Amino acid sequence: MRVLLTGASGFIGGAVAEALDAAGHDVRPFDLRTGQDVRDAGDVARALRGVDAVCHQAAKVGLGVDVSDLPDYTSHNVQGTAVLLAEMARAGVAALVLASSMVVYGEGAYRCAEHGAVAPGPRAGEALRAGRFEPPCPRCGAALLPGTVTEDARLDPRNAYADSKTAQEHLAASWARMTEGSVAALRYHNVYGPRMPRDTPYAGVAALFRSRLERGEPPLVFEDGAQRRDFVHVRDVARANLLALENPPDAGTLRAYNVASGTPRTIGEMAGAMADAYGGPEPVVTGRFRLGDVRHIVAAPGRARDELGFAARVPFGEGVAAFAVGG
Ligand SMILES: NC(=O)c1ccc[n+]([C@@H]2O[C@H](COP(=O)([O-])OP(=O)(O)OC[C@H]3O[C@@H](n4cnc5c(N)ncnc54)[C@H](O)[C@@H]3O)[C@@H](O)[C@H]2O)c1
Ligand SMILES: [Zn+2]
Repeated sequence: MRVLLTGASGFIGGAVAEALDAAGHDVRPFDLRTGQDVRDAGDVARALRGVDAVCHQAAKVGLGVDVSDLPDYTSHNVQGTAVLLAEMARAGVAALVLASSMVVYGEGAYRCAEHGAVAPGPRAGEALRAGRFEPPCPRCGAALLPGTVTEDARLDPRNAYADSKTAQEHLAASWARMTEGSVAALRYHNVYGPRMPRDTPYAGVAALFRSRLERGEPPLVFEDGAQRRDFVHVRDVARANLLALENPPDAGTLRAYNVASGTPRTIGEMAGAMADAYGGPEPVVTGRFRLGDVRHIVAAPGRARDELGFAARVPFGEGVAAFAVGG
């Protein structure tokens, strides 16, 4: 099929282009870096001619350094997606794969021994300053057991970037209802691998660790390093996009999928594995924190496996060892 790929010049978009191409699809790349803007209806309308499906990776990414980033996240991610959807409706293109994110969940899933499944709110600055990093039960304050988050969890975005990714899903769901289009929203967990952006305030933690190692400096680990995440290799993410394009959800619906490895790691483990692969120095656990970060967010990968036939293939040790030395 002919696929319009937005964000094609980016980290994940580049890997998606390779995967679609290798599977025999005809990729039409689209990116701000090559002069095309998803917020420009004319650019989008021209690019949509003769297209069967859209794979929408373009976005301003990261956590946001301060409040002055709010307009930019809203403009590229929310307005950009709205323009794209309106033009898709006009052009009669009915299939969308949307790059969403685990950030739509906020904190992951937790259980209290007394109260069962609970959704802790944002952690208080005071607790973090005192080194109390685990979020307590919102009803009784007891310690919680972290679990895995399924696609049916309530969305609870915690920063401007997360707000914009949540808005993308909501707009795409409305578009699907109104046009009988179909949307697969792929909620990527922590993506790493070749061409990962580096040394910007928005870069993912693996890229920041590598930049430190390349300068001969120890990776700096926030909090106590026990934060759980799911690191998934960019080649696996690219294959999830291919599978989602080839197995679209029912017309009129948005279907969300966690895209994850299914084997959670801690941030401390990631830093240690990268330092080992690079040959040191060993990571330093700083106890520092960022308001707006969540403690644990671990995906339940079952739906993507059952409905798309997706299972991550790149083993953590192998992927991290290659990434640490530049691949
Ligand atoms: N990297 C991760 O860990 C991660 C995790 C979850 C979700 N995502 C999502 O995956 C997608 C790709 O992210 P990435 O990590 O490859 O980021 P990236 O910054 O490497 O790529 C994004 C690309 O989008 C392009 N772009 C931005 N605004 C645009 C606009 N208005 N018009 C056209 N192009 C525009 C940029 O030029 C860039 O090439 C994003 O939607 C992001 O939210 C990434
Ligand atoms: Zn409780």
